[in-house]
Amino acid sequence: MTYSRIAGTGGYLPEKVLTNKDLEAMVDTTDDWIRERTGIRKRHVVSDGETTCDLAEKAARLAMEAAGKTPADIDLIVLATTTPDKNFPSTACLLQQRLDIHGSAAFDVQAVCTGFVYALGIADKFVRTGSARCALVVGAESISRIIDWTDRGTSVLFGDGAGAVVLEASDEPGILSSHLHADGAYEELLHAPLDDYLQMKGNEVFRMAVNTLGRIVDETLEANNMQKSDVDWLVPHQANIRIIQATARKLNMSMDHVVVTVAEHGNTSAASVPLALDAAVRDGRIKRGDTLLMEAFGGGFTWGSLLARY
Ligand code: ACO
Repeated sequence: MTYSRIAGTGGYLPEKVLTNKDLEAMVDTTDDWIRERTGIRKRHVVSDGETTCDLAEKAARLAMEAAGKTPADIDLIVLATTTPDKNFPSTACLLQQRLDIHGSAAFDVQAVCTGFVYALGIADKFVRTGSARCALVVGAESISRIIDWTDRGTSVLFGDGAGAVVLEASDEPGILSSHLHADGAYEELLHAPLDDYLQMKGNEVFRMAVNTLGRIVDETLEANNMQKSDVDWLVPHQANIRIIQATARKLNMSMDHVVVTVAEHGNTSAASVPLALDAAVRDGRIKRGDTLLMEAFGGGFTWGSLLARY
């Protein structure tokens, strides 16, 4: 049986930083309020002319380097984004061009903050069925472009960035299972109309996120006949420290086994899970053989999880 396994990871945050103090000068908020309610200390944002593809390229090159792969090895690109460079071509195709890859399938996935979990789940199925052997999977966003920087309810929460993994065919697992869901009935709670800014009913989104993520943790463990204690690392979507803590409590997991990067970059939407994964792989916390539970919840609503042996 063929599995897909993560061969390497990469992450990139744009150079420009907005601290909570910077935001105090822009909207009626305080550093204390932001840290207490969200856990966020700063976020990175793209500079003029810098695009989602620019961030994606940097993360992708680092992931390929970590995996020991060259562009010639890549036969599939799946890129999750809500903030593409153009209506078309897809940002995946723009990235393919930058990397001088020709002929592989390349497409974008739009599932907002769950985008990377969707993209990795899709790429896993390509590899398991033999349609691809080495996939580049990216989550990249310049979400700052669709934020109303005069709205304190949303501007303090989000940031830009990109994360990537190389997924390769293997005799050993790998990705153990993926669980992807959506319910479009909740459009009005979190959406960004065309030519308008992101709008969110934060309180209601918060409640839905906590309940839904608890359920998906149970679904994922049941599907693999595993116990909560079998999970070495929770790698959650980085939206809000309180949502992350609530999910960890449901797993009976101490925060020592939860990867938390939200303080450093806020909610980077589709980039958040791969950025967290890359941080913990590079600093040596996540080791080969560890069991990882990745999960996310976002606009749509969409939600999903992946259980993987690293
Ligand atoms: N600074 C200071 N005060 C603020 C700010 C701010 N930036 N924003 C809101 N407030 C005020 C509100 O106006 C309200 O004041 P009031 O009591 O006088 O009316 C008070 O703070 C409390 O507001 P709540 O909305 O009840 O605060 P809450 O504790 O729910 O925190 C937050 C708000 C941080 C937005 C929280 O609801 C949250 O994190 N929600 C989930 C958001 C999320 O994760 N979204 C992403 C989902 S994924 C995706 O796809 C994008």
